[in-house]
Amino acid sequence: MTSSLLTVSYIGASALFILSLGGLSHQESARRGNLFGIIGMILAIAATAIGTGWINNFGINEYGTLAAAMLPGVITGAIVAGRVAMTSMPELVAILHSFVGAAAVLVGIANYLSPVQPFTGVEEVIHEVEIFVGVFIGAVTFSGSIVAFGKLRALISSKPLLLPGRHLLNLAMLAAAIWLGSWFLGSEGYDGLPPLLIMTAIAIVLGVHLVMAIGGADMPVVISMLNSYSGWAAAAAGFMLSNDLLIITGALVGSSGAILSYIMCKAMNRSFISVILGGFGTDSSAATQPAAHLEGKVHTTDPAAAAETLRNAKSVVIVPGYGMAVAQAQHSVSEITKTLRALGVNVRFGIHPVAGRMPGHMNVLLAEAKVPYDIVLEMEEINDDLPETDAVLVIGANDTVNPSAVEDPNSPIAGMPVVEVWKAHKAIVMKRSMASGYAGIENPLFYKDNTEMLFGDAKKNLDAILTHLK
Ligand code: TAP
Repeated sequence: MTSSLLTVSYIGASALFILSLGGLSHQESARRGNLFGIIGMILAIAATAIGTGWINNFGINEYGTLAAAMLPGVITGAIVAGRVAMTSMPELVAILHSFVGAAAVLVGIANYLSPVQPFTGVEEVIHEVEIFVGVFIGAVTFSGSIVAFGKLRALISSKPLLLPGRHLLNLAMLAAAIWLGSWFLGSEGYDGLPPLLIMTAIAIVLGVHLVMAIGGADMPVVISMLNSYSGWAAAAAGFMLSNDLLIITGALVGSSGAILSYIMCKAMNRSFISVILGGFGTDSSAATQPAAHLEGKVHTTDPAAAAETLRNAKSVVIVPGYGMAVAQAQHSVSEITKTLRALGVNVRFGIHPVAGRMPGHMNVLLAEAKVPYDIVLEMEEINDDLPETDAVLVIGANDTVNPSAVEDPNSPIAGMPVVEVWKAHKAIVMKRSMASGYAGIENPLFYKDNTEMLFGDAKKNLDAILTHLK
């Protein structure tokens, strides 16, 4: 393989990655997008391994080393991804981001100790800046993603850790990293290793501190932000290794992650900078007064009565949340939808942008259960229709349907748009208990006069409703 063939393969792989991102932006084309991504990645790996080997005269030893490094990774990745439950997918994504960060750190340090090619003058300075910045971003991504993994897996509390003077602390760490950077750039030979390693340790602490300070409800933004960081870390590794494809791929991931974070912040009515600096999702950030304490009567219902309400309704809106994913209730939801539509009921879905634990979580589950795309609407498309809706079925959603976001200015989620299910004539809320959602805050919806709580596992109750409907 000549170097021009290698370049052509890289261009082909880059085009496939762009097509993949384009495909993934719509449910109808998501599978095709995924396929483009897979083909692009196979082409990228094959071209890099074969092409680089050809140019550098790799022998059996070099290919043996490459295989020894890659095969365990490929096998472990396939097993882990094959076994992961849909509800644990966000955790897997978070931990995979940490691998990208760790790879950027290791590539940076290795590249410093043994450069791919000798550099002199300005080129040497540029190369060292690439190493320093790449290792910094990689280390923040590495430790931040591990904390995000811990929070999503409930190994670490989702409550934000708010150290006194935390912004100053972050600034001090950033200033120390910049100072270490000037020491690193001014060093000869391997003398730059101590500042590089000290900066790596500081960046690891910074990553932990940044993500620990973020409250439960704002975790979606953190996940997409770390996704973006992992892209920039990969792009930095691409610069260090002079690998154009890695630069392009990293930039695609970095910029699409940044755009996704921005979209999520807009959807949640949050300032991007404030979320990054941490502290949202707490009483102390948005509120000056404590959040309202809830009292009142809770009305309960049973599957037979819920089925009757749905059967007699002209229009029904189903609002799924994380509990639907936990209960794996999407197929039962799909059956109920079919049955109600056959009875002439207008059934639609209202999807909150951060329902579940990852972007598009609900859409993926509903698509898997073959719910028609055209009745699955976004929050802002459905909210105006809710006052004219006869019944809303809330399936394991909590934070994303919490009226205190709109009604209580002292609530930690004040200002976050939610699906306004309480405006419908009746809301049936399916969950197992009165427990709070991911953000850990109480929900006044459960005490409203037009709300009926249907306690129990969502799948079991949906199956019971289905039996009554039939
Ligand atoms: P949550 O607020 O997390 O509430 C889910 C509810 O489902 C819980 O209150 C739980 O109540 C119920 N539940 C759990 N298992 C159930 C089962 N088997 N059957 C019935 N109900 C069950 O859900 P949401 O409204 O989807 O909000 C998502 C939250 O996660 C937001 O705070 C969001 O910011 C955060 N988050 C989102 C993402 C992304 S990108 N989507 C990422 C990280 C965090 P019981 O225990 O009483 O059953």
